[in-house]
Amino acid sequence: MPLKPIEVNREWHTAGGNGPEGLFCLGDAVENLDALLPEYEGKVKLVYMDPPFMTGDRFFMRVRVGEDQWKKGRGGMALEAFSDKMSREEYLGLLRQVLTRCHRLLSDTGMIFVHIDYRAHPHVRLLLDEIFGEENLLNEIIWVYQSGGRSVNHFSRKHDVILFYRKTARYDFNIDAVKSVPAQPKPNHMRRHVDPDGRVYRSIKTNGRVYTYYDDEPVAPTDVWQDLSHLQQKDPERTGYDAQKPLALLERIVKCASRPGEWVLDPFAGSCTTLEAARRGGRRFIGIDRCPLTVNIARRRLAGADYGIELPRSVDAAPACEASIRSGVGFFHVTLEGFDAGIPGLPEGCAPMDAVDNWSVGYLRPEGYRVMAEFARTRKEGALRRELAVPVYGGELALCVGDVTGRSFYYALERI
Ligand SMILES: C[S@@+](CC[C@H](N)C(=O)[O-])C[C@H]1O[C@@H](n2cnc3c(N)ncnc32)[C@H](O)[C@@H]1O
Repeated sequence: MPLKPIEVNREWHTAGGNGPEGLFCLGDAVENLDALLPEYEGKVKLVYMDPPFMTGDRFFMRVRVGEDQWKKGRGGMALEAFSDKMSREEYLGLLRQVLTRCHRLLSDTGMIFVHIDYRAHPHVRLLLDEIFGEENLLNEIIWVYQSGGRSVNHFSRKHDVILFYRKTARYDFNIDAVKSVPAQPKPNHMRRHVDPDGRVYRSIKTNGRVYTYYDDEPVAPTDVWQDLSHLQQKDPERTGYDAQKPLALLERIVKCASRPGEWVLDPFAGSCTTLEAARRGGRRFIGIDRCPLTVNIARRRLAGADYGIELPRSVDAAPACEASIRSGVGFFHVTLEGFDAGIPGLPEGCAPMDAVDNWSVGYLRPEGYRVMAEFARTRKEGALRRELAVPVYGGELALCVGDVTGRSFYYALERI
């Protein structure tokens, strides 16, 4: 049967755990931070942000369309994700607005990490000094990587800068959480010994005192991070989103600057790396991004979490969608029969249903659309699953289709 489109502004994914773990807001960072302030002011423990770098470039997402592309992991459509074309005034104006709001959202024990490159660095550093106070700068972290090409016109640029500030002197930093045993002891001038238990240690005598360091002792990272590589071309972690950062980088930041149950915020969330790192570490998360493609990534990377997605009011006319519904014992079985988003430029040989990236069935509740069963294509399951089973509850049934361009369409589902 053809379905009637409906307006939805919030969807909730329920894992049946210990209550909401997080929120993803699609839209402008400043507007969404303003909306968060009444509820979250002074409650956020960690802000990580990786804003555009003022490069003047456009950034894309390679989107897979249909079973074949998902299974083979090749091809796809390159869709523009975001543009970094801003004047310095516009750029610093945006960051000033975002940073002042983040400062208010942070608790007194909170911290902020701002990820930038050599272009934006001096300007953003001065802005942060102004908003957070020079005395609250803790580190200028240099993240070194080897990926990308080599330049002959200047030295190859192989690092980003992450500026790390506390909100107040009461900040709660946990260096022990990020200590690790080095894979290989650094060659140095210290004498090597083996103790009676067979453990290797080094020693050095300075000013009459002997210092010993065991090779298997965990050590903390310094402010130069060379041990976390950038994502390689074929890295299984890759979502197809340009500018995606490695999970290991965010896990280090999340672990040292927040504790389980605390709120972690990323106002330029992109492919949701911070949200995934926060969730893996048992933290609660808030992400904001204005690129619609990020919603599909959120649905995939946060699968199984208890979280909400806030969407701006839909202005797009919903495409035709057909579904059928069958009653089983305690469940409705809903089959997606047809969806034609009419997307121009689908790769050759693709059928309209290949444009379905993900879909779900749920109930309309006062708090929004509550997802009960969902499917998103993955490498393992690239073929569109056509049937979803939802438990029989009271209330209005609804269905959502996320298309490959990042649009979400909602429809009412009439019970039989
Ligand atoms: C460098 S990317 C972030 C990448 C992210 N750290 C990751 O691991 O995927 C910057 C993001 O900022 C978003 N963005 C730019 N301007 C924005 C704004 N005014 N409000 C919300 N998001 C914005 C872009 O859509 C983009 O996804």
